[in-house]
Amino acid sequence: MNSSEANAQQISGIVICCRPGFEKDAAAELSDYALSRGHAGQLKCTVDSGFVLLTLDETCHFESINRNIRLTDLAFARQLGFCFGSATGMPDDDRVSAIVETARCAPTRFGSITVETPDAEATKPLSGFCRRLAAPLGRVAEKNNILRPKRIHLPNLAVLFVAQSEALLSINTADNRSPWPAGIPRLRMPKDAPSRSTQKLAEAFMTLLDEAELEQRLRPGQRAVDLGAAPGGWTWQLAWRGLRVTAIDNGPMASSVMRTEMVTHVRADGFKWRPLAPVEWMVCDMVEQPSRIAALVADWVASGRCRHAIFNLKLPMKKRHEEIGRCRELIGKRFAQANLSYRLRLKQLYHDREEVTGFLEAVR
Ligand SMILES: C[S@@+](CC[C@H](N)C(=O)[O-])C[C@H]1O[C@@H](n2cnc3c(N)ncnc32)[C@H](O)[C@@H]1O
Repeated sequence: MNSSEANAQQISGIVICCRPGFEKDAAAELSDYALSRGHAGQLKCTVDSGFVLLTLDETCHFESINRNIRLTDLAFARQLGFCFGSATGMPDDDRVSAIVETARCAPTRFGSITVETPDAEATKPLSGFCRRLAAPLGRVAEKNNILRPKRIHLPNLAVLFVAQSEALLSINTADNRSPWPAGIPRLRMPKDAPSRSTQKLAEAFMTLLDEAELEQRLRPGQRAVDLGAAPGGWTWQLAWRGLRVTAIDNGPMASSVMRTEMVTHVRADGFKWRPLAPVEWMVCDMVEQPSRIAALVADWVASGRCRHAIFNLKLPMKKRHEEIGRCRELIGKRFAQANLSYRLRLKQLYHDREEVTGFLEAVR
């Protein structure tokens, strides 16, 4: 891709950011998904680069690909953009001109500009520079009529620096991209929480649900169950939000969690324990085979034992994309049995390592 190809006023690629080291899984998922939506292409994927580019065999219109390819459908992608060009060989002292020159050929004008870099060792040092570039780039883009900041309905120009002198230019919209640079929310560790994994559940709520969905579904006074709760990072997160939690684990819960007086600790097997009455939320962080967890969570939601679930799937070392496919299938089968529709979102969060986190609910 170069600026002259961008003249075709078409989208020529899909770029995603992912966790470094997971590019192969992210690429396999993206290419299968894009193909299933009618977009074939060639992958560019370098290990530990933190991004994947799928160059499309046939260019297409932004509106149609933005409808077809959704960030929420991809487990390994943290950020998404639809490429129309790239700026390469940019001189250190003037990157703005090259970016504006390419953006001039974009199929649309923009309401905002973001400047980001993948979360990779090689490009992480560029993140400060990306932050500093946003304002001068915005000024020049506005002068050139590329940026119209008052037109908030216009899409975002996403500039992704994949090297010091190379940026991919793409288009994305607020409803189909992460609001955080490279899809990474920076969360503070609450001082009373007993384990860092409390941030994982906090990130899951922010990433897997939008603000309106969260407000509707998560309220103080609700009941929740935490399967595999010890030492209590996830339980603490729920209790802090005002939920009454039954924490299931044979291991000990941290005293800071029990002191909230919102928690009942039950020493039991999370695969066998059942609540006496349905609860709003079930969360599950047991270290077990992903297919066992997927089947358990699907059963809880499909049988109405809980309304919404957040769960972690610990992935194998290889063929992680295939394993996720198996879990999706298992969940689909359980809901087909119950004759119910469902909403399933899976994402490898910033706070996830060799794992993905899921949200599941029945759609009635
Ligand atoms: C990764 S830790 C959970 C960490 C917790 N989410 C937190 O934020 O502190 C996994 C927990 O699952 C528990 N566990 C594993 N298998 C279990 C089972 N069959 N029943 C109940 N708990 C189980 C382990 O005892 C362990 O405490």
